[in-house]
Amino acid sequence: MLLLLTLLFKELLFHGASTVGEKNQDLQVLRPHHLTTEEPLTFHLIQISSFANHSWAHTQGSGWLGELQTHRWNGVLGTIQFLWPWSRGNFSKEELKNLQALLQLYLHAFPRVVQAFASQFQFEYPFEIQISFGCRMHAGKASGSFLNGAYQGSDFLSFQGNSWKPSSGAGSQAQNVCNVLNHYRVIKEIVQILLSDTCPRFLSDLLEAGKAELERQEKPEAWVSKGHSPEPGRLLLVCHVSGFHPKPVWVMWMRGEQEQRSTQQGDIMPNADGTWYLRVTLDVAAGEVAGLACRVKHSSLEGHDIIIHLDGYSILLILICLTVIVTWVMLVMVGSWFKKRSSNQNICSPYVPSPAFSTEVNTQDSRNSGNHLCLVKKSWLKSIFLKKWKTSLNQL
Ligand SMILES: *[C@@H]1O[C@H](CO)[C@@H](O)[C@H](O)[C@H]1NC(C)=O
Ligand SMILES: *[C@@H]1O[C@H](CO)[C@@H](O)[C@H](O)[C@H]1NC(C)=O
Repeated sequence: MLLLLTLLFKELLFHGASTVGEKNQDLQVLRPHHLTTEEPLTFHLIQISSFANHSWAHTQGSGWLGELQTHRWNGVLGTIQFLWPWSRGNFSKEELKNLQALLQLYLHAFPRVVQAFASQFQFEYPFEIQISFGCRMHAGKASGSFLNGAYQGSDFLSFQGNSWKPSSGAGSQAQNVCNVLNHYRVIKEIVQILLSDTCPRFLSDLLEAGKAELERQEKPEAWVSKGHSPEPGRLLLVCHVSGFHPKPVWVMWMRGEQEQRSTQQGDIMPNADGTWYLRVTLDVAAGEVAGLACRVKHSSLEGHDIIIHLDGYSILLILICLTVIVTWVMLVMVGSWFKKRSSNQNICSPYVPSPAFSTEVNTQDSRNSGNHLCLVKKSWLKSIFLKKWKTSLNQL
């Protein structure tokens, strides 16, 4: 079965690669140096396969340009989903079709082959296999590729040079798997072509095509809040920074020009729209809050750092408290005014229904419904006032 598979792979792959292989060399010479970041950029595919038992397996696949997802594998249709208009790079339709067919074949066969070998490889159900496959580019040049496999979340094996090597610490089990895999020369050749030719070409295309997206500058928004007090008499100040792109950012709690060393930085987390979020905290004594500020530096701000002073924050709090108190006092006043008015003008006592409604209501009922209507009216008026004050609060 493996042999048949590898022959099919080879045919598909060489068909695609041979037509574009020569063009590739010119492209690499022509390609401008377009990267603004110093970091090497990667394109990699991630495969996550879960095996519940000998008859049930589930595989997810995705493609990533650095930390930006560019592709998703649709397991139902067996197709590549391109998540950006530029996710095709400029691979020809034919080459993409061949790659898709190759992936289809591979993702169809992979769980079967693993399940067939599970007992020989001493894989114990349930288990999970993760594979990361990709290549790097640095300063416009291909700078290496990788294929790593993990079993149950730990490094298991990798592809090095032209053969499979067990990861250090993965023991004889990984050695055993590599021994078996190394027998399949054709698979190794295919992996080598994908790693050394297809991937770098695709990465370099993607970097060109997705340039605008990668270099997109989005300004962060920042705000501060109070977290759970770590202990009595202390405060946890939280500075939230969100919506920025690209990822590198500098956020620090400051007192004047002095960086607060005990500032704790969380992980930079992705937002759904491809921008980033970061939370930075400071644990301080309650009396030392005045004079602190959260400072944010980001490329999109072009040197105009965001600085949020805590004093401003407490003034805002005082303002909000004041407004709430004033609102409350006014509501009470309005309430008593209505009470007075109602006892004078009787809007709340015996309601006299209009003839149209009253024909079938006896007097007892009409008195009850009159009271009820009056309460409704009151609460309606109250809610109107509340709404007004709420909107003016929001405008603050
Ligand atoms: C295999 O696992 C799946 C998913 O957990 C379960 O629905 C199915 O019944 C299991 N089959 C066997 C034969 O244990
Ligand atoms: C691919 O992109 C490069 C650089 O942008 C361009 O020079 C080349 O003509 C493109 N190739 C095809 C087949 O469109």
